Amino acid sequence: GDEITLKEFAEQLKLNPTDLIKKLFLKGKMFTINSVLSYEQAEELALEYDALIEKEEVVEESFGEKFSLEEKDKEENLEERAPIITIMGHVDHGKTSLLDTIRKTNVAGGEAGGITQKIGAYQVERHGKKITFIDTPGHEAFTEMRARGAEVTDIAILIVAADDGVKPQTIEAISHAKAAEVPIIVAINKIDKPGADPTRVRTELMEYGLIAPEWGGDTEFVEISAKFNKNIDMLLETILLTAEILELKADFKKRAKGIVLESRLDPKLGPVADVLIKEGNLKVGEVFVCDETFGKVRALINDKGERVNKVYASQPVEILGFDTVPNAGDVLYAIKNEKQAKKIVEEVIKQKKLKEQNRTKHVSLESFSKQL
Ligand code: GTP
Ligand code: MG
Repeated sequence: GDEITLKEFAEQLKLNPTDLIKKLFLKGKMFTINSVLSYEQAEELALEYDALIEKEEVVEESFGEKFSLEEKDKEENLEERAPIITIMGHVDHGKTSLLDTIRKTNVAGGEAGGITQKIGAYQVERHGKKITFIDTPGHEAFTEMRARGAEVTDIAILIVAADDGVKPQTIEAISHAKAAEVPIIVAINKIDKPGADPTRVRTELMEYGLIAPEWGGDTEFVEISAKFNKNIDMLLETILLTAEILELKADFKKRAKGIVLESRLDPKLGPVADVLIKEGNLKVGEVFVCDETFGKVRALINDKGERVNKVYASQPVEILGFDTVPNAGDVLYAIKNEKQAKKIVEEVIKQKKLKEQNRTKHVSLESFSKQL
């Protein structure tokens, strides 16, 4: 026939079906293992999958070993690191306000139209412990940023406004967090408002498997008012307790690995990228590769706008010194020397071209269509 289930499709292409579903999920496409696909859909999916695997595997697999991009953790160097917490939820439910209250700033007040349009990353200290926060936009147009936010995080905070309830991007945020396999803490916000109905929010979230312990589940719920600073301490406690269970550790002594959250071309400074350091440390003067580009760290600017000489795992930082503007989502690796960096980038570009050619071949999918 000209139909195939996702499971059969994955088998034919020798793919792990769970992996495939997860990747598609992150792209906002929902499939289950038993989804029935038409030939057209299968063809589209095959192409899509090629596009999906392209980026990460080029760097991670083909070159990872050859050039040892990633330095291995040394067991004896492992130390506790700050948890990375991504705030997600529907537009206007109070994500930026929550971070403003925690950081005692007013970012939300300065945003065009009150809408967040980029990923923001900040570090705060609570009872001597550092916590890294990532703010994501709630507007429906920014699915990819939410997916990226969920992918780099240790814990997702799902914000739901008590007067508005579960909305499309609330549900989308849940899918991203689930696909990334990170624990979710629910913050029911705006409980100060006259129309607030936290119980309704709890009931609505049950449908998505988010159930509070007192209702027989294992998801933490905290009822807050970001605007009036209510129960924010309780939320931070819950975050720190959840992080403790995860036992997050890093080797701060090795060469850095980071992820580009945002990038831009500054007319004065040149290419600039907001990077979340995931592993190791990065110093001014060090050489790095970042997918198709490379560079030498000219300056590191922390989330408070201060120039620093060195940054460590879990820290967000603005990096100056890129050769060209990297793409959001690109992985950055500190490298021993410039010659090696150039060689790696050349190789990445070469491999990408090869992939592109293979993909064009793939388009015809002749053998595949015969099997169908
Ligand atoms: P996007 O980033 O665009 O998705 O929005 P957001 O989730 O960051 O929401 P933001 O923090 O910008 O807040 C939206 C509006 O809700 C603002 O007018 C805030 O002042 C208001 N708000 C946020 N938290 C609360 C709260 O706890 N109580 C009340 N009454 N208003 C709040
Ligand atoms: Mg916002």
